[in-house]
Amino acid sequence: MSALFGLGQALLLAFDPERAHDLTLKTLELGLYPRAEGADDQRLKQTLFGLEFPNPVGMAPGFDKNARVPRQLLEMGFGFVEVGTLTPRAQSGNPAPRVFRSHADRAVINRLGFNNEGQAAALQRLKERPRGIVGVNLGANRDSTDRIADYVEGVARMAPVADYFTINISSPNTPGLRDLQAPRKLGELLAKVQEARKGLGASAPPLLVKLAPDLADADLPEVVRVIEEGGADGVVISNTTLARDGLKNQAFARETGGLSGRPLFDRATRTLARVYRLTGGRLPLIGVGGIDSPGTAFAKIEAGASLVQLYTGMVFEGPGLIGGIKRFLSVAMDDDKCNSLQPLIGARADEWAEKTLPEVVV
Ligand SMILES: Cc1cc2nc3c(=O)[nH]c(=O)nc-3n(C[C@H](O)[C@H](O)[C@H](O)COP(=O)(O)O)c2cc1C
Repeated sequence: MSALFGLGQALLLAFDPERAHDLTLKTLELGLYPRAEGADDQRLKQTLFGLEFPNPVGMAPGFDKNARVPRQLLEMGFGFVEVGTLTPRAQSGNPAPRVFRSHADRAVINRLGFNNEGQAAALQRLKERPRGIVGVNLGANRDSTDRIADYVEGVARMAPVADYFTINISSPNTPGLRDLQAPRKLGELLAKVQEARKGLGASAPPLLVKLAPDLADADLPEVVRVIEEGGADGVVISNTTLARDGLKNQAFARETGGLSGRPLFDRATRTLARVYRLTGGRLPLIGVGGIDSPGTAFAKIEAGASLVQLYTGMVFEGPGLIGGIKRFLSVAMDDDKCNSLQPLIGARADEWAEKTLPEVVV
């Protein structure tokens, strides 16, 4: 079976990236995917912001923007799935081509621009709730005149089907969206979203904020302070980067958009470690960006992540990566003689936080 999926993976990589992605979703819808082998190691379980995660490996948003296959992804062994980004109204995104792969760099650049069928369509699909944790990633429409109102609308509409929300203010592909990371705007956004959550009573899903890896070091403490004061339950670090340093494929490097995959790993992990230090471990963090092996997933945990997510690594490595990461984490817990991931989380945050990288000029 796994050889068959290996072949499928090789074929998919020969297609145009967006076409390959569409084929992958269709394959999942048809039920042609590898199921996780056996139950998860009990030591991988964690209760975070009121949710019980069976394992810490999640599917990052952007893969299943319209909530077509969360059940299938959970059955493949992911401990949670984040769907979206969903905007209140459907929108087509930027003109194609808008997704680019570089095999030499094990990386993707995308400038999709929140193409999605809108929240109402996803809401309908998610009413048949799969067994497992499904987070909903929320965004704002490109032509919206009040972007904060779009997030508020998303929270109110999607609450019945969301196990948690992620406020995505870090996509580089919607002009001006990242301005919402500025402390004053972010404070206003969180206050309004929290008001909407209050209206939902005790059943309000927890709220996470997803940051860019390109925030300047000097701005990070204030951003984190506002997130904590705004009552967020967790932080996701990170979205794609505008940086292009170290890429081998120069034609690829010139494409506009957000870079993901291996070249993002150091930048995203360093920012994660910095946020971990700033929050003193008080808030659960999701580490994303450049995980393409069990070792890189483990490094995110040691840098401060309680949970990890991946996308681009799945494109190049295929679904075997999910089980590989879980097995590696079990061995790491054996080696450290611990019966949960807890002692490993943030164990090397200082080292990661001090890493020197060129600052991104945006
Ligand atoms: C094609 C593509 C589309 C994406 N779309 C979204 C999105 O809609 N919302 C979002 O929050 N992140 C999106 N992302 C970012 C991923 O969730 C993730 O943060 C980033 O790719 C880094 O992880 P990776 O290196 O494992 O891919 C997208 C990434 C890719 C490659």
